[in-house]
Amino acid sequence: MGKLRVGVLASHAGSNMRALHQASLAADADFVVAVVISNNSGSGALAYAREQDVATRHLSGRTHPDPEALDDAIRATLVQHGVDYVVTAGYMRKLGPLVRKEFSGRILNIHPALLPRHGGHGMYGLAVHEAVLAAGDAVSGPSVHLVDEEYDTGAVLAQREVPVLPGDTVESLAARVLDAEHVLLPQVVAGIAGEHRQGSSGQ
Ligand code: GRF
Repeated sequence: MGKLRVGVLASHAGSNMRALHQASLAADADFVVAVVISNNSGSGALAYAREQDVATRHLSGRTHPDPEALDDAIRATLVQHGVDYVVTAGYMRKLGPLVRKEFSGRILNIHPALLPRHGGHGMYGLAVHEAVLAAGDAVSGPSVHLVDEEYDTGAVLAQREVPVLPGDTVESLAARVLDAEHVLLPQVVAGIAGEHRQGSSGQ
């Protein structure tokens, strides 16, 4: 049975996509990164994927000014690459209804806080860590959740706690949470890939 094929959408550095791709290179990995899509033609995510010979596509409001055409192009690209699961990792756009329908229940997002705390519209980047510090939380950490039609409201599949330390700045907290993201996301995808292999091996 083939490995789980993962399509990743990322807008900027793509460090989570890199962590996922690195994990996929392990001899016993049950998943591959089949395609990386970015709305940002200059993103680190696309540059890394090209270096690693992973298929890439730049799809954005520039390539497809009509939102429905863009949604359909993303959907078609994922389908063409045989994607089983979609991961949005630092993707700064909302997925359209065509992608959400095609991959319903099979889209994961990583969020840099312990949902349901500090999620929702506008809660991204350093704003999340600012909110954690302002609230005086003693712990933070990433959440991997299923994507639905709202921001950060789908079922949480896994979290990884990190301490908030005295003297933390948004930057120091963000760095600690990002390190935890790089562990959590490959773990969750590996878990899904393992279930996928077992589920299909009996057929
Ligand atoms: C991460 O903090 C992720 O949780 C959030 O955006 C950031 C992306 O970082 N959604 P990278 O592009 O994966 O380096």
